[in-house]
Amino acid sequence: MAAAEFVVVANRLPVDRIITADGEEIWRTSPGGLVAALEPMMHTVDGAWVGWAGLPDQQLSPFEADGIRLIPVTLSESEIEEYYEGFSNDTIWPLYHDVIEPPQYHREWWDAYVSVNLRFAEAAAAAVAKHGTVWVHDYQLQLVPEMVRNLRPDVTIGYFHHIPFPAHGLYAQLPWRDQVLRGLLGADVVGFQRTQDTANFVAAVKRRLGLETKANAVTLSDGRRVHAKAFPISIDTTPYRELARRPDIKARAVEIRESLGNPKRILLGVDRLDYTKGIRHRIKAYGELLDQGRLSVEDATFIQVASPSRERVDAYMHLRDEVELAIGRINGDHDTLGHTAIRYLHQGFPREEMVAMYLAADVMLVTALRDGMNLVAKEYVATRADNRGVLVLSEFTGAADELRQAVRVNPHDIEGVKDAIMTAVEMPKEEQARRMRSLRKRVLEHDVDVWSQSFLKALDDASHHRHSAEQR
Ligand code: G6P
Repeated sequence: MAAAEFVVVANRLPVDRIITADGEEIWRTSPGGLVAALEPMMHTVDGAWVGWAGLPDQQLSPFEADGIRLIPVTLSESEIEEYYEGFSNDTIWPLYHDVIEPPQYHREWWDAYVSVNLRFAEAAAAAVAKHGTVWVHDYQLQLVPEMVRNLRPDVTIGYFHHIPFPAHGLYAQLPWRDQVLRGLLGADVVGFQRTQDTANFVAAVKRRLGLETKANAVTLSDGRRVHAKAFPISIDTTPYRELARRPDIKARAVEIRESLGNPKRILLGVDRLDYTKGIRHRIKAYGELLDQGRLSVEDATFIQVASPSRERVDAYMHLRDEVELAIGRINGDHDTLGHTAIRYLHQGFPREEMVAMYLAADVMLVTALRDGMNLVAKEYVATRADNRGVLVLSEFTGAADELRQAVRVNPHDIEGVKDAIMTAVEMPKEEQARRMRSLRKRVLEHDVDVWSQSFLKALDDASHHRHSAEQR
C-alpha cells in the first residue's frame, strides 16, 4: 500500500467485523461519536485509518471500505481484556469521568496498554508519507503521539481527546500519570472538548512535569512547543436534516407514537448503556413523578434506548442489572394494558429509526453525570426543523457549554431533574420555538466540518512553526 499523507489512528476502525448468529461475516459501522465525526472528513483526504476491527486474534490485511483505506491492528483475547476492557475502560474511563465508578489500577493492564499503544504507533509510522500527518484519537491511545514521534520525527502529530480530562486532584491518582502526560506531549497539538479539560491538562503538565507553559503552549526541554486547545466536536448535520425531511421517516414517527397508545408527550433517552450517562438518575426522577401523580402513563411515555456497550466489564454488567430492575419495578407499578411508563430498548438502531424517534420525541433527556461532549443532544436538535421539542441537558456535558438554551439540569439533584422534566413537558410552544431556534443555530453553524477544519488548521500552523524554528 502506498504511503498516506494523512493517517488517522483510533482504537476502532470505522467498521467492525461482526459474525452473525448463522456464522456469516459482515461489516458494521462502529459505535460512538468518534467514527461519525471523522468519517466525513476522511472522504476528502489522501488518508488511511489505523484501528482494531472489534474481534480477537484477527490477522487482516489492509483493505478499502467506502473509499477509506483501512489498516487493521490485531488484538489478542488477553489484550482485549487488559488493554481495552481493563486499562482503557476500567482504569482511564472511570478516572477521567470523575470516578463515578472506582477506577481499577493493575500493573499488568498498564503493561498491555504500553505494548498495544506501540503496535498502533508502529502501524501509523509505517503507513504515513514523509512529512505527512498523523492524527491520534482518544484515551485508548494516549501514548501513541510520543511513540510515533520517536519512530518518525519528520511527521506532524495531532491528538484529540474525546472524553473529559479530569482535575488534577483526581488525575494524580493514576500510578502512570507522568508517563501518560509525556505520551500526549508527543503531539504538536493536543485537542480537548472544553476549555476546562484543556486547563486541567495544562495544570497537570505544569505540576507533574514542571514544564513551562504560556497561554496553553507547553515548551519542552528540547525547545519544542505543544499547543493545547479546546475544539468542541460536533456532528455532520446533513444526514440528520435530510432524514428528518423524508416522508417515510415522518410517517414512522407518527407510527411510533401510535404504537405507544398516543400518549400526550413522548420523552426520549438515547445512550450507550454506560454509568456516565445518568440513566439511573433519569429513571428514578421519572418514577417519582409517576408515584406522585405529577405525570400519568396516559400523559407521557418515556422511551429509553440503551445500546449494549462493554458488556464484559463488571461495572457495566452491574449497571445493566440496576437499570433493568428499576425499570421493571416502575413499569410493574404504573403500566396499564394500553400504556407503558418506560419503553426500554437494549438495542442499537440504524440512523433512520433514530431520526424517527427524535421526531416523535417531545422531550429529549440528556442527564449524563459527566460526558466529554454528548452528540445525541446535537443530533436531536439537528432533526427539529419545525422548532418544536425541548432538550433537557446536564450541566456536566461538554455540549452544555454550547447549548445554552437547553433546560439545564444537575443530574445529581433528583428534585431538580423532576422539575426540569415537568418544565419541558409543560413548556408552551412559543418558548420551545424560541429556545430551539437558538440551539439549531449553534449546531448548524458549528458542525463537524468546522471542528475538523479548525483542528487541522491549528495542526498546520503548529507544523509551520516547528519547521521554521528548525531551520533557524
Ligand atoms: C466513546 C469514546 C470512543 C468509543 C465509544 C464507544 O464515544 O470516546 O472512543 O469508541 O465511546 O465505545 P467502545 O468501547 O465500544 O469503542
